[in-house]
Amino acid sequence: MNKDLNLFDTIKLGSRYINAKLFGKRVPLIVSWALTYRCNHKCVYCNLWKKEEKELTTQQVFGIIDELNLSGTQYISFTGGEPLVREDIGSIINYALSKNIKVRVNSNGSLVNEKIDSLKGIDKLNISLNGPEEIHDSISGKGSFKQAITAVETAQKNGIKVAFITVLSRININSLDFVLLKAKQYGVKVNFQPVTREILGTQVENTVIPDKEQYQRAINMLQNIKKLNSGLISNTLPGLNYLSLYPKGKAIKCASGWLSCRIEPDGSMVHCSRKPENSTNCTIESVGKAFSNLHDKVCENCWCSTRVELNMQWSYGKFNFLSGFKSTFTTEPDKYCDYGIKNGEIKAG
Ligand SMILES: C[S@@+](CC[C@H](N)C(=O)[O-])C[C@H]1O[C@@H](n2cnc3c(N)ncnc32)[C@H](O)[C@@H]1O
Ligand code: SF4
Ligand code: SF4
Repeated sequence: MNKDLNLFDTIKLGSRYINAKLFGKRVPLIVSWALTYRCNHKCVYCNLWKKEEKELTTQQVFGIIDELNLSGTQYISFTGGEPLVREDIGSIINYALSKNIKVRVNSNGSLVNEKIDSLKGIDKLNISLNGPEEIHDSISGKGSFKQAITAVETAQKNGIKVAFITVLSRININSLDFVLLKAKQYGVKVNFQPVTREILGTQVENTVIPDKEQYQRAINMLQNIKKLNSGLISNTLPGLNYLSLYPKGKAIKCASGWLSCRIEPDGSMVHCSRKPENSTNCTIESVGKAFSNLHDKVCENCWCSTRVELNMQWSYGKFNFLSGFKSTFTTEPDKYCDYGIKNGEIKAG
C-alpha cells in the first residue's frame, strides 16, 4: 500500500470511481479551486494576475466547502493566481481539513515561509520549478528560484510533502535534467506540463512554445526516464504518450462533471480553466446543481497534465487504472533509485 493513501481512503476513492464509471453516479471527488487571480509574480506565460475577478468571502468559501463535503469531495487543490496571497488561506485550509478533505496547494513558493503555519496538515504542496536559477528567474522574475527552493526546504522541515510542477516551454526545454536532479535531491516527484498555446488567462499566442523537435526530444527523454522507473516523474507513461502528441492531441473524454471540476475565484464551477462554458455560480445555485450542469465534454486535446491522467482513465478503459490512480493521488517516489542518474547527470538510456 502506498504511504500516501490508507486502505480506507483507497477503498473510498476506488468505490466512488467505480460508482461513477459503472453506475453513472457523479461525484466531485477532486476539485481544483482557483481562490484568487491575484499574484505577486508575473510569469512570462501567465497573465492570470491581470484578470480582475470578484472573489468569494471566507464565509462563502466555507459554505461551498460544506456542500462539496456533503457531495463526497475527497481532494481540493487550491490554486490561483497565487493562493497564498489570500489573507484567509490558513482558515480556508483548516476548514477543509476539518471536514476530512485532503488539501493540496499549488504555489510559486514565495509566501511559503511566511505562511508555513497555514499549510500544516495539507496532503501536498506543489511548487512550480522550471529549471536552474537563471532559467527559472527569467520565467518568473528575479529571486523566484531562491523562493521556490526555500519553500521546498521550509515545507519539508515542517513535515509537508512537496512535489514539483514544471512547465515545458522554449525557455527550459533543455534544462529538464536539472529539475529531475533537484527532484532526486529533495526526494520529490515532478509533474511535467506543456505550456499552453495562449498566454494563460488571455487569447494572446504564447511566444515561448517550444519548437516541435525540441519538444519531441524532451518528451522522448522523459518517456525513457519513466520507463527506467526512477520514480521521479509523476506523469504516467500513457500520460506522457498523450503529451507527446502536443500540439495536435487526441480526442479525450472529460472527467469533469463526473469526478472532478474547477471552481473560479468568483465561485463559478467550470470543467477546467480552458473551458469556462456551462459555468454555474455556486453562490447562486447549489454545488450539486452546478456540478450536474457540467455536461459531458469531449475535447480535441487536453494539456493540463494532471487532468490528462484522470481523463485518460475516464476515456480509455484499457489504460492501466492502478498506475493512473497512483499518479493522481500519491506524492512520494515509488522508490528512490539511481536509474537514469549517473555521475550527477540524467542518462535516459
Ligand atoms: C496558474 S499557476 C497557480 C499556482 C501558482 N501561482 C504557481 O505558479 O504555481 C498553476 C500552474 O500553472 C502553471 N502555468 C502557468 N502558466 C501556464 C501556461 N501558460 N501553460 C501551462 N502551465 C502554466 C504554473 O507554472 C503552475 O504550475
Ligand atoms: S504561473 Fe502562478 S506565479 Fe506565475 S504569474 Fe501565474 S499565477 Fe502567478
Ligand atoms: S481541456 Fe481537458 S480538462 Fe478541459 S474540458 Fe477539455 S478534456 Fe476537460
